[in-house]
Amino acid sequence: MSFQSEIINWYEAHKRDLPWRKTRDAYVIWLSEVILQQTRVEQGLPYFNRFLENYPTVQDFAGASETQILKLWQGLGYYSRGRNMLHTAIEVCAQHNGQFPTKYEQLITLKGIGEYTAAAIASFSSNESKAVLDGNVFRVLARYFGVAEPINTGAGKKQFSTLAQSLVSGQDASIYNQAMMEFGALQCKPKSPDCLNCPIQTGCFANQQNLVHTLPVKLNKLKKRIRYFNYFVCRSDDAILVNKRSAGDIWQELYDFPLIETVEMHQNDQESFQEKLKNVFGTTCKINTISRQKHLLTHQTIYVEFFGLDNYIINFNKHTEIKWVSLAEFDELPQPKVITNFMNMHFNYLEKP
Ligand code: ADE
Repeated sequence: MSFQSEIINWYEAHKRDLPWRKTRDAYVIWLSEVILQQTRVEQGLPYFNRFLENYPTVQDFAGASETQILKLWQGLGYYSRGRNMLHTAIEVCAQHNGQFPTKYEQLITLKGIGEYTAAAIASFSSNESKAVLDGNVFRVLARYFGVAEPINTGAGKKQFSTLAQSLVSGQDASIYNQAMMEFGALQCKPKSPDCLNCPIQTGCFANQQNLVHTLPVKLNKLKKRIRYFNYFVCRSDDAILVNKRSAGDIWQELYDFPLIETVEMHQNDQESFQEKLKNVFGTTCKINTISRQKHLLTHQTIYVEFFGLDNYIINFNKHTEIKWVSLAEFDELPQPKVITNFMNMHFNYLEKP
């Protein structure tokens, strides 16, 4: 039996029952794929359901505000993806008559849709013969066919792409692509693949050569950037001081607290820190640490420290992006995960200043 038939047979016997597999609606598939690029299936499911409930059609999605989309997206990270989705929904309504495209060449022109997503939507919605290449598929191909080229170089990507495309030809692309991703996710797993129960173990290069834990090869990634965020939690009765984040950095348009970023972990008695406090709050103030968190992003590690202040006077003219909102209003605003975690953890503290 061919590699492809083995994979499809395995899929028919083991596939999970997932809602986006029951539709050919390109809009719904797009929703699921963009969410699933951000998170695992179990965590993505509630997001998918909420988005579909709130916006059953691309027209509904296009009519949403950016704040509404970011609020629903909250917790998934990479917020530009949420923003790109709104841009794309509006474009589909304006340029494609409200019909979400189903062909690769049209899909790839849309904002936030790269090669993977275009191939996924095109194959799942219209059976177009385009191979998907995500982390799962790279792994299955590298191991079974013994491809040692790194998966994150130009040459490697080209080699994997040629191989993947040759395999999808002549197959039901929708089923075969889903099958490859599912096989990678459930059977040919990164750390502990179930080789003993694998239907293609005898044809698998990595299994035969004892290279299962060596393949796929990935070149060392760039070192992560380390940052120190010092947040100031300012309460006045029911209100809290929030900061709308601006363009050019992470969490654009999301709301956090007044922030001083430093190049190292700060001790609160340091003079330069008090100078910075004066810039933000118009005065030096005694501060106390409420809590610390380490927050991991794809390319950055952020050490976050939350401070309470003994007194502060805000110079609003200098800081138009900083404003008072009620706690209830803050709850409705899109926030980075560190802030939501903080609010959930310290709500009692905030309730009783
Ligand atoms: N991950 C990305 N796309 C997926 C899909 N369609 N089904 C399951 N997992 C996925």
